[in-house]
Amino acid sequence: MSSRQFPGPFLHPFSHLETLRRDGPLVVARGEGVYIVDDQGRRYLEGNSGLWNVVLGFDNPRLIEAAQQAYARMPAYHAFFGRVTEPALELSERLVSLAPMDASQVFYANSGSEANDSVVKLLWILAEAEGRPHRRLLLSRRNAYHGMTVATSSLTGKDYVRSASGLPLAEVRFLSCPHHWREAAEGESEEAFSARLADELDRTIRNTGAEFFAGFFAEPVLGAGGVIVPPRGYFQAIQPVLRRHGIPLIADEVICGFGRTGSFWGSLHYGIEPDIVVASKVLTAGFFPMGAVILSPDMAERVGHAAARYGEVPHGFTTGAHPVGCAVAMAAIDELEAGAFANVGKVAPVVQQRLAAMADHPLIGEARGVGLMGALELVADKAGKTPFAGDVEISERVATRALRHGLVCRPLGQAVVLAPPFIITEAEIGELFDILGRVLDEVHAELS
Ligand SMILES: Cc1ncc(COP(=O)(O)O)c(C=O)c1O
Repeated sequence: MSSRQFPGPFLHPFSHLETLRRDGPLVVARGEGVYIVDDQGRRYLEGNSGLWNVVLGFDNPRLIEAAQQAYARMPAYHAFFGRVTEPALELSERLVSLAPMDASQVFYANSGSEANDSVVKLLWILAEAEGRPHRRLLLSRRNAYHGMTVATSSLTGKDYVRSASGLPLAEVRFLSCPHHWREAAEGESEEAFSARLADELDRTIRNTGAEFFAGFFAEPVLGAGGVIVPPRGYFQAIQPVLRRHGIPLIADEVICGFGRTGSFWGSLHYGIEPDIVVASKVLTAGFFPMGAVILSPDMAERVGHAAARYGEVPHGFTTGAHPVGCAVAMAAIDELEAGAFANVGKVAPVVQQRLAAMADHPLIGEARGVGLMGALELVADKAGKTPFAGDVEISERVATRALRHGLVCRPLGQAVVLAPPFIITEAEIGELFDILGRVLDEVHAELS
């Protein structure tokens, strides 16, 4: 049980109200490596790295020291009116050289949502400046998650999240979710499914006219949609369509960026050639709020021309390119390069093997994943892939029970999602899956 009452003065975003009412909030007091510790001293293995981001440990001393030194040197400054701090210049150089495509400039926001929102603004600024004000339509996919600002909620393919606030914006068009297990026709191969989705994209564009489309947003792996790994050949089928119609591809690497898939970028893992990359989360390992928009030379040049029209780039945030955030990001990249990224390569096969083994459990319809991310799709009937009735709240049930056993995992629709920190050891992976196996057995017994 929690030490705090609910409801209280704190408004809990995206939190299951009934669980909160029954158990109260989990008050997190501190962290130790891959564990968090609550205000009553209980330890939990954090199987989700917080929200995919705290991958270098909850007490990483190098990041704390980098932040302390940056605070001592220059604790705050903005980047308007031609001002910039040294950490912001250094980080930009580094991101440009690390980017998965030829890149030349970086714009900073304070979150993944703001970064994606900034891309929308930049695309629309280009449309206006280049004399094509009608070029405003944005392509996204069902089950995508691109953020929670007005524009990025609109790009997020979760119906209730949009409709709750009367969204999406009129400019958004949704394509099918590339989830082969759930969406493919009987007997359809992954390649054939990919070709069909590329065809859908082509038709969607042609039906309206390519000149109306400003960009196509895609996560390499749909993360908050339930770790939907693209079917074989998906991006290879999609990209030629976009190129043919001259529509920029925006890789939302907020989750996949910096190693989650086992490659340094999801784009490298899946052969994506983006025009724009959006990064956040692992960029600062969760130790500072930051989002980054990385532009290809062509995009940067076009933004430059558009800016010339106004005498400046008509966009920016007070705390964007914060010097402490930039210093923390540099330290996070140092840590990744010093061994944390290599550890992903080492332990990912162990995670994927343990995950795949769970497909045999009677509650699991599909076990899927890549690198250090995975999902277990819970089903009422394995053969028919039948989901549980809503009132069973199956994933919430599993996650709540896991918490009681000392494991944080995330309920997402009918799936339970895992995204452990990059520094996790094989012993900790063993602990994680042992707990999860026990939890699934208990929930199965409870339901039968
Ligand atoms: C792929 C992706 N894009 C964007 C966002 C939004 O990031 P933020 O919550 O930092 O605004 C998220 C958040 O989970 C995400 O997963």
